[in-house]
Amino acid sequence: MGENFQIQLIEKSLKTTTNTYTLNRFVKPSQILDLVSQYGTPMYLIDENTLHFKANELLNAYEKYKGSKRIAYSVKANFIPSILHSFMKDGITFDLTSLGELYFLKKCNIESENVIYTSITEEEEEYVQVLRNGITKVVVSSFNGMTNLVKAAEKTNVKPQTLIRINPEVSVKAEIRASYKNGKFGVPFNGETIDSAFKIVKHIVNNEFLNFDGFHFHLGSQITNFSCYSNTFSKLNTFISKIKKDLPSFKINTIDIGGGTPVFYNQPIPTPKQMAENYITKLNQLADNHGKFELIIESGRFLVAESAILLSRIVNMKEYNRHKIVIVDAGYHILLDSALMKQEYPQEVVDSNNTNIYRRNSSLSPKNIHVAGRLCDTYDVFPLSEASNLDRARIGNYISFYNVGAYSVVFNMPFHCQTKPPIVMKTSSGDFKLVRKGTTYQNLFEEEGGSIP
Ligand SMILES: Cc1ncc(COP(=O)(O)O)c(C=O)c1O
Repeated sequence: MGENFQIQLIEKSLKTTTNTYTLNRFVKPSQILDLVSQYGTPMYLIDENTLHFKANELLNAYEKYKGSKRIAYSVKANFIPSILHSFMKDGITFDLTSLGELYFLKKCNIESENVIYTSITEEEEEYVQVLRNGITKVVVSSFNGMTNLVKAAEKTNVKPQTLIRINPEVSVKAEIRASYKNGKFGVPFNGETIDSAFKIVKHIVNNEFLNFDGFHFHLGSQITNFSCYSNTFSKLNTFISKIKKDLPSFKINTIDIGGGTPVFYNQPIPTPKQMAENYITKLNQLADNHGKFELIIESGRFLVAESAILLSRIVNMKEYNRHKIVIVDAGYHILLDSALMKQEYPQEVVDSNNTNIYRRNSSLSPKNIHVAGRLCDTYDVFPLSEASNLDRARIGNYISFYNVGAYSVVFNMPFHCQTKPPIVMKTSSGDFKLVRKGTTYQNLFEEEGGSIP
């Protein structure tokens, strides 16, 4: 992790919180100034060491689970090939949800046995491609999806390890909830229709083309109350006992608990270890009751968020009614969640004179400072974090947005004919490497059909 600079945070409503947070300053202000003079702004900066550190931290959080375990990186959070290459070195698994993501993985030479595929669409032809590409761990989320997987297995002569995505219908406190009654994801334990985990299990165990592997669920993203996991494990325990009454030799090889590990933006959050402590006993009880299973912990946000900074330049400012509006050359087109989720990314000014002094300005309360983007849209303002420090905000200085590695690059969009920013990675050996070129207006013009006569 980067240089230590501790920000004291007021303890908020969460019970198991850490009340200090260290911004991940993996580059020095002087290095930032060198990079912006070379590549311009806006620019994303990624730190490879942080990726490795996070993968380890997440795995270690589950050390008290008595069975085997692995981490699966949810590629949807950031599909930049250099990130995939870095995680490949950690030997982790990849959680995929589209043929596009599969294409990226194959191009990066990632082994198919290190993949778990969870589709939303579950089409037969999609599953044919998945199996032909050597992926054997597949999660089905509907009866129809399971039937399509059977057809694909028959066509390709591959017998997939099949998991069922359940919707445990538990209450989830999170920024994004993925488990709710009548929701689009997964199937209920005991639904009345054929889209019921109970009925799908019976079909899979009796089907010659599929192997039953286990259960998968994903409760949401940026989860801050962990009772939803404990409640799901209790429901799962009862459910498995019920199945065993009908199928006495029923065995589970894998339980995949999906994503949700939170990241610091504004509120203090528990560490993954503190998170896991809330339900590790329940997980071990499940293993005691029904046999040891491999635990898969998926994560997108936690694994990549803190690895990246977005650098922008302050291009304009105005002040009225004791409010200061700071306009930067970034916008929600490159940091969508600032508008969509009102995400409060921590921000900090980098002085173009490199004096590197961080202190609070007493004349204006942080509430009276507004960071606005370059787009002609009301929503293009960046909410401030408790950890934001905008002293020294003046035209020509830079603003670093921290913890932007998840769900940002993947949503880059050309609103107002904006191009994609370059991405630079600080590699584990300390070098800075351009890993994605910025695009040009010419690229965009052509992409939008400008060169079609
Ligand atoms: C099935 C599944 N697993 C894992 C994740 C990753 O969640 P997070 O980024 O909160 O770790 C998602 C996110 O949408 C998901 O849909």
